[in-house]
Amino acid sequence: MGRYLVTGGAGFIGSHLVDALLARGDEAVVLDDLSTGHLSNLPPGVRVIQGDVADVNAVSSAVTGVDGCFHLAAVASVQRSNEDWLGTHRTNLTGTITVLDAARTAGSNGSQIPVVYASSAAVYGDAKDLPISETTPTRPLTAYGADKLGSELHARVASHVHGVPTTGMRFFNVYGPRQDPKSPYSGVISVFAESVMTGRRIGIHGDGGQTRDFIFVGDVVDHLMAAMATSTTTSRVFNVCTGNATSILYLARTLMKAAGRSFEIKHGPARAGDIRESVGDPSRAIAGLGLRAVTPLADGLCTLLA
Ligand SMILES: NC(=O)c1ccc[n+]([C@@H]2O[C@H](COP(=O)([O-])OP(=O)(O)OC[C@H]3O[C@@H](n4cnc5c(N)ncnc54)[C@H](O)[C@@H]3O)[C@@H](O)[C@H]2O)c1
Repeated sequence: MGRYLVTGGAGFIGSHLVDALLARGDEAVVLDDLSTGHLSNLPPGVRVIQGDVADVNAVSSAVTGVDGCFHLAAVASVQRSNEDWLGTHRTNLTGTITVLDAARTAGSNGSQIPVVYASSAAVYGDAKDLPISETTPTRPLTAYGADKLGSELHARVASHVHGVPTTGMRFFNVYGPRQDPKSPYSGVISVFAESVMTGRRIGIHGDGGQTRDFIFVGDVVDHLMAAMATSTTTSRVFNVCTGNATSILYLARTLMKAAGRSFEIKHGPARAGDIRESVGDPSRAIAGLGLRAVTPLADGLCTLLA
């Protein structure tokens, strides 16, 4: 049994990770400022520290005595990072460095603890060579992606200079229960699911031929746990993806099928700067973490709607 800090643990992905840790018999401590996360996402009895991940005192007191840290706290929105560049940067990069710095001495006898942290496919920008592998050049096009790449660079420093085991998880498009459909920054699946559940027509930007790699949150949690279990002092990054390219139009149709209802699809103007195609290559995670995403899209969508 281990004891783990989960920053951003009251959010969408973090709360599923907390569930999985508890189910395995581990103890979870959550550090979250509740800016987008909710206490109602968490099971009763979990220790929650309401605080800012860029606050040195809050992080060092939260991390003391844990066996490892899952760092997921972030302003998880490209749009917000464009609107509030500096504020988002403070959370998304300074917050990561604060966690890495604290991890240098958080263990018993002042030793290092492993950090598994959320990066993003946004580090690749609009990559043209598909599928996207970890060796694809990183060219972020947004402040959010730049801060995720900055987090990876500082994680390398934490490993190489300070001996902190770090693993960066480049999540592609994660979906599942508890993703907030009311947020203007939410993922396309939770927005479509909300439309289907409330009987509204589905709105698609452009022709719907844009592709994305959608991965179910349960599979993401399995990747996070495997990354923690295999941590070494080397600094690693992994794509967390399925390897399947799904068009937005196919997604809308699959969702309607899962819901057993049919709705009008309304095509609006394409969004400026929208990436046309995105699909990840999961080979490195399959080899290095010993697992792959197993939830078929239709099954994940049924779980979401349920
Ligand atoms: N959901 C996706 O598809 C996706 C894709 C790529 C990367 N990610 C990354 O995965 C992680 C989790 O994302 P999510 O989808 O669960 O988002 P989320 O918004 O549900 O979770 C983020 C959590 O961090 C907390 N938080 C935000 N700012 C904080 C601060 N300054 N101090 C402490 N806590 C703070 C929020 O309250 C929230 O609980 C993020 O790092 C995000 O960038 C998510």
